[in-house]
Amino acid sequence: MTTAVDSPITAIAADRVPDKYLAAAGHPLAAVTGAEILAPLISGGHVRYANLDYGASAPALTVVSAYLNEILPFYASVHRGAGYASQISTSVYENARNIVREFVGGRPDDSVIFTRNTTDSLNLLAGCLPGADGKSAGDVLYLDIEHHANLLPWQGVPHRSIVAADTIAGTIDSVRAELEQGGVSLLAVTGASNVTGEILPIRELAALAHRHGARIVVDAAQLAPHRRVDISADDVDYLAFSGHKLYAPFGAGVLVGRPDWLDAGTPHLAGGGAVKEAKLDGVSWATGPARHEGGSPNVLGAATLARATQVIASLDQDRWHAHESAIRSYLVEGLQAIDGVTVHQIFKDTDPDKDTIGVVNFSVAGYDAGLVAAYLSAEHGVGLRDGRFCAHPLLKRLGLPSGSLRASFGVGSRLEDAQRLLAGIEKLRRDGLGWDYVVDAGRWVPANDTRTYPHWAPNTPGTAGAAPCIDD
Ligand SMILES: Cc1ncc(COP(=O)(O)O)c(C=O)c1O
Repeated sequence: MTTAVDSPITAIAADRVPDKYLAAAGHPLAAVTGAEILAPLISGGHVRYANLDYGASAPALTVVSAYLNEILPFYASVHRGAGYASQISTSVYENARNIVREFVGGRPDDSVIFTRNTTDSLNLLAGCLPGADGKSAGDVLYLDIEHHANLLPWQGVPHRSIVAADTIAGTIDSVRAELEQGGVSLLAVTGASNVTGEILPIRELAALAHRHGARIVVDAAQLAPHRRVDISADDVDYLAFSGHKLYAPFGAGVLVGRPDWLDAGTPHLAGGGAVKEAKLDGVSWATGPARHEGGSPNVLGAATLARATQVIASLDQDRWHAHESAIRSYLVEGLQAIDGVTVHQIFKDTDPDKDTIGVVNFSVAGYDAGLVAAYLSAEHGVGLRDGRFCAHPLLKRLGLPSGSLRASFGVGSRLEDAQRLLAGIEKLRRDGLGWDYVVDAGRWVPANDTRTYPHWAPNTPGTAGAAPCIDD
């Protein structure tokens, strides 16, 4: 059994933290599973793991973990069985659609299609664009700030891209100018940048798209875990997000939106359940979500995703915002006060209090981002993301072709997580690295690392290989 010991940096004077931040974010807003796990330090001992990587995958809400245990005994095939457990599983699965529709403010006739994740949802939509059959009905228009999930699926269909301006206002002007050229069928835009956490004005962009005869799809992978979304109020046509970023890491994502294109589009997964009638040499496809959900659906993923949306929807909006905003402001102010640290953002006119989510992007002069990430993990028990965040065009344009660091947090976070990061970076600038590091399989790792994983995890640290989207 391991016990937590104080790392050199855990005892940070509380008087260095403004009261307003402590009051809003001294404690987690909601309990998450794994909040107290211990991370081994390279020099020996353990510290509480400071998880600042929510933007990649967020931990499960404990309510969601408990719900999973509650429904697990009733797990059975969906849509395929007359048995008691099958009926229950089917009911839970179908009801999950209603819960998710309500969460996003969906219209009564919107399709709610369960997928694997946001990437899957956007690929599904790409296969349903009018013109995907060869008769082009217009281009998909996207910005250069997008995650690859909202960029690459459109490259297989008629498309146009534009470079976002250095202000939100300028970016809207650029989008307007492009839409005025005509011939755009769909504007694909992120709700919030996974790189910098800056929020885009979705309602305004939706109105702009519609004024020019285009529809809009919002990649809400980052937005939905941080802000209420209402596709009816914002007049958004399609919305995609992932359970694993919304505190339900059980393998489901979702696409919600207008049924006409989806019902006419190419079935995303041809197979059982997606048809009305199949013959040896032909098929009559189903309409509705079934058309795209071929094969046995992920009932537990969909059910837990739906349960997570209920918890998130029940949060007091002011407290939710204050919690996240306190951690972000504290972190940004702290990082900016450290010599040699640069905090990155895309737009000059972003209001940091209103227009950002719990994501902070930065770099440390003189240190490779991957090395800083390895150091923070090995010497401070802090987990964050380094690299190019699956947003290569944006990183290149921000002048960060070899990547940067991203701290991200959410409802299970507390100010102490940010303190731990700041103390680690301060120490790095003051004392340098406390250990030797080498590059192994493209990743910085501590040399002579004797730490071990739990017995049920086969890898030893450092053998995981390069993170996605880091390599050239
Ligand atoms: C903005 C954004 N869009 C899409 C994705 C892809 O999400 P997933 O990996 O769940 O498909 C991510 C993941 O990081 C993201 O941040």
